[in-house]
Amino acid sequence: MTSKVVSPKKVAILISGGGSNMVSLATSMTEDGHPGRPCLVLSNVPSAGGLAKASDMGIATEVVDHRDFKGDREAFEQKLISVIDHYEPDAIAMAGFMRILTPTFISHYAGKMLNIHPSLLPKYKGLHTHQRAIEAGDAEAGCSVHEVTAELDGGPILGQARVPIMAGDTADDLAARVLVKEHLLYPLVLKRFLLSEKDLITL
Ligand code: GAR
Repeated sequence: MTSKVVSPKKVAILISGGGSNMVSLATSMTEDGHPGRPCLVLSNVPSAGGLAKASDMGIATEVVDHRDFKGDREAFEQKLISVIDHYEPDAIAMAGFMRILTPTFISHYAGKMLNIHPSLLPKYKGLHTHQRAIEAGDAEAGCSVHEVTAELDGGPILGQARVPIMAGDTADDLAARVLVKEHLLYPLVLKRFLLSEKDLITL
């Protein structure tokens, strides 16, 4: 009997910074039989530390610097789309990609995009999530992986992980504690997403 070989789905990972989540995603996809493989790491920031890490892992990298488009978001996104589409990804994982995307971009990849956000959504959409959680006196914080829709940080939540907020925590302390969970949560959700499993998982 011959078994059918299913080729892995191609995943483009979008970053703006150090790329620690990108590394955890890419590493997870080296697992035998994983349903995905990274086809591209793209950054809007030429100096993003994650680019070198991706190259070291043998992953193709691209830069589309938003500053070259001088506030012309439409032109920036058209360039992003043309660069990304060259790699024919089946899924797009935003991993610390710090640009707000318009409905044009989001609808082009409808149903294919994931994002990780460092809060327990729907709390604290946007920036400074850890500081806001501390200032609110919350007992816990965490991260969420969600599908990307036109509403900022608002698409269906596929996974969440929680951590305690300790007395005296700074935003940096909390960010570091949450990041450990991000590295566990995002690979789990990506793998399930590639297998079309979309029920919520919690850590
Ligand atoms: C992560 O904490 C991620 O959740 C956050 O940026 C960091 C990127 O770190 N994303 C956002 O704030 C998106 N709004 P990394 O570059 O080391 O993965």
